Amino acid sequence: MKVAIIPGDGIGKEVLPSALSVLDAFGLDIEKVPLKIGYDKWKKTGSAITDDDIALIKQCDCVLFGAITTVPDPNYRSVLMLLRKELDLYANIRPFTPLEKVKLPCARKFDFVIVRENTEGMYSGVEELHEDVAYTTRIITRKGSARIAEKACKLANMRKKELTIVHKANVLKSDSFFRDVCTGVAKKNGIAYNEMLVDAMAYDMILHPGKYDVIVTTNLFGDILSDEAAAMVGGLGLCPSANIGDKYALFEPIHGSAPDIAGKGIANPIAAILSVKMMLEYAGHTREAISIFIAVNKVIDMGIVTPDLGGTYSTIDVSNAIIKLIR
Ligand code: IPM
Ligand code: MG
Repeated sequence: MKVAIIPGDGIGKEVLPSALSVLDAFGLDIEKVPLKIGYDKWKKTGSAITDDDIALIKQCDCVLFGAITTVPDPNYRSVLMLLRKELDLYANIRPFTPLEKVKLPCARKFDFVIVRENTEGMYSGVEELHEDVAYTTRIITRKGSARIAEKACKLANMRKKELTIVHKANVLKSDSFFRDVCTGVAKKNGIAYNEMLVDAMAYDMILHPGKYDVIVTTNLFGDILSDEAAAMVGGLGLCPSANIGDKYALFEPIHGSAPDIAGKGIANPIAAILSVKMMLEYAGHTREAISIFIAVNKVIDMGIVTPDLGGTYSTIDVSNAIIKLIR
């Protein structure tokens, strides 16, 4: 397997090396293609990512991504969004399973996955900025809705076979369209489904998280709900994600580059390490993926955690402890 390695900026440069050291502990046959992409590159060269970078990425099977700082330029388009579009990574899979011993702000008993449409909706990129008005066109296509619904049904089939379709169809025509396509796909696949309006979902997810299994939604709603879910499992430092297309995949922690703590060596590497776990699952290395999950739970149990979880350990301490357990 050939993997493009993009640490990016800020804590991406700290958590990704930590996660790679965990990956290396398995001694798998993985060819790494390191790439310097992001804000630092933009400062030096005027572009955050080049066509050559994209060509190199397309020669790989998947990407491991850290985090990239948004460049302060009104014409700048997020590198992450560009890669999602360019590689057609239409499904953003975000699992929320509480880890043992992590203190939660809500009920403990839940285990759900947000399946976020990742290439259209409010992120269409069709925008206009004028003196007194600005437009963003929210594009929802039949193809885009059907393929994300298919992904969600496939996942539901491997889990409790329950799908929740989240939308705002009471206000947005584009969302009644999204809902109708999703319900059609669920019926075709024999998956039991229910619907939630996104505002009610934001509320109920906290009160009754145990009710949910697979949640499918549009791009921006998925972005917002997944940060809420991250708070429910104990913080963004714990949450991985997989951006999946038919040809490529990109694995990344949900968190950003966190400039406020960058360079201090205290960023939580668990989200990045669990992103490696998702990559290993994708590549069929199930045994290794399970052993990462067990080791992550164990280090938390042992109290070897970074300050975001109330500990005093460094990024590297955490990954070293995980590696020791794996060995
Ligand atoms: C995420 C992030 C990105 C998004 C940003 C960094 C473009 O918030 O992956 O959730 O909005 O999708
Ligand atoms: Mg987000």
